[in-house]
Amino acid sequence: MVTRAEIGVIGGSGFYSLLDDATEVEVSTPYGPPSDVITVGRIGSRTVAFLPRHGRDHRFAPHLIPYRANLWALRSLGVRQVLAPSAVGSLRPEVGPGALVVPDQLVDRTSGRVQTYYDADGVVHVAFADPYCPAGRAAAVSTARSAQWDLVDGGTLVVIEGPRFSTRAESRWFSSNGWTIVGMTGFPESILARELAMCYTSLSLVTDHDAGVEAGEGVTHEEVLAFFAANVERMRSLVTEVVTALPEERACPCSSALDGLKLPFDLPE
Ligand code: ADE
Repeated sequence: MVTRAEIGVIGGSGFYSLLDDATEVEVSTPYGPPSDVITVGRIGSRTVAFLPRHGRDHRFAPHLIPYRANLWALRSLGVRQVLAPSAVGSLRPEVGPGALVVPDQLVDRTSGRVQTYYDADGVVHVAFADPYCPAGRAAAVSTARSAQWDLVDGGTLVVIEGPRFSTRAESRWFSSNGWTIVGMTGFPESILARELAMCYTSLSLVTDHDAGVEAGEGVTHEEVLAFFAANVERMRSLVTEVVTALPEERACPCSSALDGLKLPFDLPE
């Protein structure tokens, strides 16, 4: 029976059937319970933990997800590399629904979300110039390319607070800054992974053109859910292949993100 895992997948509930030999594990953390029970199992020779980001019944809106508990729980199961499939809107006319973006940059436009583990007992500044794992990105890009995805290698994800979508003016402003896609969950997930020295790779599936890109009424939640549901099988096979392409030994900067820093507590092993 698999009870620990090296790789974590934080995604929608369509990903349950990813894993062989699956076992459910209830994990408690100093930050309360994670979004749901975590399923641990195998993909080929790799051990994988799956956590539904919004909970099984989709009860957590993006601004209410227990991000700190989620990353802590995964790390305490042994996870050191995280894959984060999610739905995003496109800020570029040439990047349409169905495209996969593997961003290399991020802009945080959230407000009021707790975004650190280091908010007591000392000062810890973690480098975040490059928010995504270069090795995870390379695995995702080469896998998606071989599987003939309409792929954007790199680009900037702007994360908004939600739960509302952007106004047309906000969306035009994001585009005019040169940003590529907009979502609601990529932060603080990514920084919390980094603060625990875990690798983090975003697999952003474009479900819509955001409000500034196309005339019309703008995006709706139904549109996003329906598009993601229609593409869940493609995403599931992409995630499966990226898992097997991830390096077994980490040589990326993420693994040494905390070297030389004085941490106020021990990280979960
Ligand atoms: N998730 C999917 N589409 C989105 C959009 N247009 N804005 C924010 N989050 C999204």
